[in-house]
Amino acid sequence: MKIALGEKTLKEIREEPATIRNTFQSQATRIKEISTELGQRKPNRVFLVGSGTSYHAGVFGAYVLNALGEILAIPVQASEFEAYVANAVNPHDVVIALSQSGESTDTLKALRVAKKRGALVVGVTNMPGSTIVLESHHSIVTVAGVEESVVATKTFQAQLAVMALLAAELCRELGSLGAERVAEIRHLFEEVATMISENLDAWDKQTKKIAMRLKPSRDVFVLGFGEGFALALEAGLKLKEASLTHSEAFSIAEFKHGPISLVTRGVAVIVIAPSVEEKVEIAERLILELKQKRATVITIIEQGKRLAQGKVDFEISIPRIDALLAPMLQIVPIQLLAYNLALVRSVNPDSPRHLTKVVR
Ligand code: AGP
Repeated sequence: MKIALGEKTLKEIREEPATIRNTFQSQATRIKEISTELGQRKPNRVFLVGSGTSYHAGVFGAYVLNALGEILAIPVQASEFEAYVANAVNPHDVVIALSQSGESTDTLKALRVAKKRGALVVGVTNMPGSTIVLESHHSIVTVAGVEESVVATKTFQAQLAVMALLAAELCRELGSLGAERVAEIRHLFEEVATMISENLDAWDKQTKKIAMRLKPSRDVFVLGFGEGFALALEAGLKLKEASLTHSEAFSIAEFKHGPISLVTRGVAVIVIAPSVEEKVEIAERLILELKQKRATVITIIEQGKRLAQGKVDFEISIPRIDALLAPMLQIVPIQLLAYNLALVRSVNPDSPRHLTKVVR
């Protein structure tokens, strides 16, 4: 039987609207209950730990907690938790351990150290019955269904949904967010799911074209601010592992502090448009500089808006939605670009070389 390249990856990206709906329907009450308990503890800090894609969901989680509340939220790569954070962890802290499989050794290690230091641990996984579920004080199980492709897509989407809802509920408990805003956020998940379904085919078609153009590119940089930075990190990883393209992520402003020197003709730069008005000008100035250096520039931007008067090579447009959940839309064309770039490079994104689904 002939195996189509990337069959599983594409199927799983297509399952994202259902993943959002199912996760929301089955976990919303539980997330509220967990938030109530976390809130009663009046935590000082939240550490979000994970590896790879799950770490990037943690970066997004820290962003939403910071955007909605006044609690210190710090994302930490699970493998560096012991070296950088563990000795400071105390019983007033909450540690959120994110892991699709619930079995990654580094995340488990961080979870165990955090428990030993008395922190309250919340596990977020896609695997009921996994070790992280068993060892966490509380767990939230996303409902993405089994993810067969080694490259995580729909489970990342589910983690983003959980992070947004958990942050909103927790910030309400802690008194920094009103009930009305939480209700508003809860309603957005259905809207996001519908928008993904409606735009998926168009994004697939457009990213196929972009992939053809990027085929010869040696390097791809992905840049974003705030929530866009979390997505840029994930985009950098997706492009590397799915399409074997060298790609790196930076904050838009940080890019000027050195990495820009690598930009020449043939280098591609993806810019996730900032949602904060004051950052737009910084992004625009950078884009003009990139075009002078003959880079191929792609923007991911809200419908009807433009960066640098459209002086870019491709604009991927995203329907207008509350900025807080825009990353749940933006990530889909990014995943499709990684998938389509893999196909034009004859790489199978379902099972990239040297990688396994669970790193033990
Ligand atoms: C995701 O596409 C990667 N294959 C990888 O980075 C993965 O996210 C990481 O190994 C963590 O896995 P986990 O979520 O199962 O803990």
